[in-house]
Amino acid sequence: MASSTQNQTQPGQKDHWSSEAYSTSASFVPKLTQTLLQYLDPQPTDKVLDIGCGDGKFTDLFLPHISKVLGVDSSPAMIDAANRDYAGDKAAFKVLDCRYLETDDEVVNGNWDKVVSNAALHWILRDESTRLSTLKGIHASLKQGGSFVFEMGGHGNVAEIQGAMQYALLRHGIPIERVREAYPWFFPSVPWMTSTLERIGFRVDKMEIEYRPTKLTSDANGGLAGWVRLMGVAFLDVVEPGMREDVVREVCEVLEKTVTREEDGSQWLGYVRLRGVAVKV
Ligand SMILES: C[S@@+](CC[C@H](N)C(=O)[O-])C[C@H]1O[C@@H](n2cnc3c(N)ncnc32)[C@H](O)[C@@H]1O
Repeated sequence: MASSTQNQTQPGQKDHWSSEAYSTSASFVPKLTQTLLQYLDPQPTDKVLDIGCGDGKFTDLFLPHISKVLGVDSSPAMIDAANRDYAGDKAAFKVLDCRYLETDDEVVNGNWDKVVSNAALHWILRDESTRLSTLKGIHASLKQGGSFVFEMGGHGNVAEIQGAMQYALLRHGIPIERVREAYPWFFPSVPWMTSTLERIGFRVDKMEIEYRPTKLTSDANGGLAGWVRLMGVAFLDVVEPGMREDVVREVCEVLEKTVTREEDGSQWLGYVRLRGVAVKV
């Protein structure tokens, strides 16, 4: 039986995700997945578990080619959007905090042909205390010979934002220890991910890192400020509500020259992606 509490956003935990804000400020995330989909190599008989599925837009890209998918995500808002837009005979979505995969028998049952994850593991693996158990849960959810195919932020991802946001908080009087506690991501390197997956019992067939400058949306409510408000919310949360827009403005001002391209004024972030394929042997 699935346990009670872990299948929902934890009590007292805020749901910072909104499918509208995601579309406005990060619509490129599910779209930039051609290589990941090629590595997933969806087959008509595949039963696939999608970890951190979000609003289902990425899931929908492989849904027509497989037999069944279960998407899990800790955000009720994102799961609501996924259920509204994509649930059906072949697709189901449910709220689950993936730091605690092992609490859900429908997920960790050794029956999935493939586990896929796009742009979510750097959030899910942030807590050191549950990092290994999450990866072990992914291993346990797969059938023998099944594959874990993922893309996430890799070491050095959005380094300009990381620096600017942390410095803006320091300037607002937040102590460095508090700033580090608020740091919301884990961006691993190729050696870390390879050795950790091998230790768990995977055979690592591919592990690569790609520097992929990514154009921000030009929507009036999106762009760099929208990205900072959505993805940097854990940093913004440590300052008083009345000061948060000051921090956003300061980050945008500091980064203006770094992210803007001369030829057309478009704004780009230094995305670094870590992509891998690992097989349960
Ligand atoms: C950038 S979105 C990616 C969504 C989707 N995979 C895509 O490609 O569009 C990151 C997702 O990770 C989810 N997430 C963050 N922490 C999580 C956790 N502990 N358990 C499950 N999902 C989590 C968020 O709710 C969000 O939907």
